[in-house]
Amino acid sequence: MKALVLSGGAGTRLRPFSYSMPKQLIPIANRPVLAHVVDNLRAVGISEIGIVVGDRAEEIRSVLGDGSSLGARITYIQQDSPRGLAHCVVIAREFLGDDDFVMYLGDNMLPGGIAEVAAAFHARRPAAEVVVHKVADPRAFGVAEVDAEGRVTALVEKPQTPVSDLALIGVYIFTPAIHEAVAAVGPSARGELEITDALQWLVARDAEVHAHLHTGYWKDTGQVEDVLECNRELLKAVHPRIDGEVDGQSELIGPVVIEQGARIVRSRIIGPVIVGAGTLVEDSYVGPHTSLGADCVLSTAQVEDSIALSGATVQQVRVRASLIGRSAAVSLAAPEGLNRLVVGDHTRVEVAAG
Ligand code: TTP
Repeated sequence: MKALVLSGGAGTRLRPFSYSMPKQLIPIANRPVLAHVVDNLRAVGISEIGIVVGDRAEEIRSVLGDGSSLGARITYIQQDSPRGLAHCVVIAREFLGDDDFVMYLGDNMLPGGIAEVAAAFHARRPAAEVVVHKVADPRAFGVAEVDAEGRVTALVEKPQTPVSDLALIGVYIFTPAIHEAVAAVGPSARGELEITDALQWLVARDAEVHAHLHTGYWKDTGQVEDVLECNRELLKAVHPRIDGEVDGQSELIGPVVIEQGARIVRSRIIGPVIVGAGTLVEDSYVGPHTSLGADCVLSTAQVEDSIALSGATVQQVRVRASLIGRSAAVSLAAPEGLNRLVVGDHTRVEVAAG
């Protein structure tokens, strides 16, 4: 079995981050989303992985390379523009051959892995196995109508009036039957080749499309709040480890990881927290659910419930629920008390009153 991981797309909901880095590389618990995806595929024995990439191809390639560091063999498949999930299957035809394959959206996180859905697929080998999850508002998703045996009887993309609360999430397992389906459907009203239309095409021809109900944690990391929430979830499982230096005037409470070369000086850290390699935390407080990337500097700062990417600096300010980009600097304003901002397009800044 192979895998097709979709990592093209526009990432409009994750601006301004997606201007400088593909969203699939955003670190969750200090590892790119795509590394978590590859881990889940390896855990079910899949090492032959095709990654669909768009205009951020170079950066994804430079991080994942040929996949050997993750125990996988990666083939990159270039998509000229985001023409839809089914279009990704069309352009991957040669890579996929006649193998069964997992299609995995490269911005989706399932920390519990995909072993259950893989087992469900292998037990009956339907034409397609889709993963569904009960959501409060299904209108933003592809929605499945499922009978008592778990067989999908209808699928609709982003319905105004949903037929069920079962949303399709970012993992599918296909037999080669999907190739005829994606070739048969035309673009939707939003101009994309929809995987839901291809699945509906199979359902209409009596091919078995089976739904696997995922009850564990799942997150589409498409927006900043989702990234932070997912980081919180993954940090819950962190195992404490100190590979860096912690001075005698610092205090670590709860599960805290201090990576190699990191230094904690006169500071208090309450886990779950990860402090990345080479990062300096001095005279600061780092609160629960925080991931600091490599080579950050926190000085006289308070940071909690946040992610800082590599090289970020936070000095003399208190921040929470924040996502701070690579080599970004957050510091105290000049004494006259007015905030001074250098803010890129589509950035969001929330300044404390006073
Ligand atoms: P989406 O999150 O649905 O789309 P997007 O990445 O364009 O984001 P936004 O809505 O914020 O603009 O895509 C799901 C995943 O599939 C994501 O990892 C990108 C990938 N994808 C492709 O690789 N090719 C495509 O044509 C599309 C539509 C998505």
